[in-house]
Amino acid sequence: MTGLAEERGLVEVRGLEKRFAMPSHFLSREKPVLHALNGVDAVIRRGEAFCVVGESGCGKTTLGRIVMGLTEPSNGEVHFDGSRIDDLGETRRRPFRARMQMVFQNPYASLNPRRSVFDTLAEPLRHLRPRMRRAEVREAVEAVMLAVGADPKWGRRMPHEFSGGQRQRIAIARALVTDPEFIVADEPISALDVSIQAQILNLMTKAREERGLTYLFITHDLNVVRHFGDRVAVMYLGRIVELADVVELFDRPRHPYTRLLLEAIPKLEGGSFERERQPGELPNPIKPPPGCAFAPRCPLADERCRAERPALKPAGPARVACFAVEEGRD
Ligand SMILES: Nc1ncnc2c1ncn2[C@@H]1O[C@H](COP(=O)(O)OP(=O)(O)O)[C@@H](O)[C@H]1O
Ligand code: SF4
Ligand SMILES: [Mg+2]
Repeated sequence: MTGLAEERGLVEVRGLEKRFAMPSHFLSREKPVLHALNGVDAVIRRGEAFCVVGESGCGKTTLGRIVMGLTEPSNGEVHFDGSRIDDLGETRRRPFRARMQMVFQNPYASLNPRRSVFDTLAEPLRHLRPRMRRAEVREAVEAVMLAVGADPKWGRRMPHEFSGGQRQRIAIARALVTDPEFIVADEPISALDVSIQAQILNLMTKAREERGLTYLFITHDLNVVRHFGDRVAVMYLGRIVELADVVELFDRPRHPYTRLLLEAIPKLEGGSFERERQPGELPNPIKPPPGCAFAPRCPLADERCRAERPALKPAGPARVACFAVEEGRD
């Protein structure tokens, strides 16, 4: 890995914005617009586990889907290994699709109930590697099943015959079968029984070590970030408010929102702040406050915070979007 490649990143997003048009009220001509992403910039380095953390509704899934090309951005760009990919049509995107795969939150919804396990795993190969022979497909499917701890005999069975943890293994196998470099994992363990969450996380760690994978790992659980991540972006209402090495973030959280999240971590293993009540509410993404979006909940908010929007700026080895940090009054 050269310093330059590291600088460039395997995946880069620049100025990503996403607005969703909402149905209008019957008495109003105005179409309300929901601001899901409000200018997200990030460089994901080759080989790292880049975590994105934040409360439900802050835009994590939208970010992952835009990176994968499943949702179109309203503005901004996605680059993969030096090529811009967000504006490619289906055919020109195909070579990139084999190199990047996604694991979804809910393995009950993400596996086609009418497709056997074998067909589920063979499908990405048939679609993305059409020249592979049948025997090669069978071999690749068996190999990936063994790699994720699935019995190759499962191949003839249907998804409903499996538990949530087994289904997520199958979903991970499907993501790995094209031998990708990059995986977007959108809360891959949060729909699973606590008792099997660690197994799935270990499987993803092992896959990372064996295959040199790069992850965009989306979670609302800071304990998962601590165990799994190299760097972490904390999101709030469609923006990154703090970006740091995981160790740095836990040792020295800078943004007031990051501090709030860390204080809310239950000390129990597997605890998640989403299950805890957060002080204050997330503002409405249809009418976000004019200044810093966190101001209504922030103990350090002042007039400037309510009027201006802080940009993400270097703060020590981290990057933080906060006037109190900038002004040294944190
Ligand atoms: N297809 C959609 N149509 C309208 N609003 C959406 C859509 N997808 C997401 N949103 C909204 O965008 C915001 C961000 O959602 P999401 O990316 O799912 O957040 P997270 O994954 O962090 O919970 C939320 O307010 C959500 O309601
Ligand atoms: S900019 Fe102001 S309101 Fe926003 S987090 Fe910093 S201190 Fe709080
Ligand atoms: Mg989500």
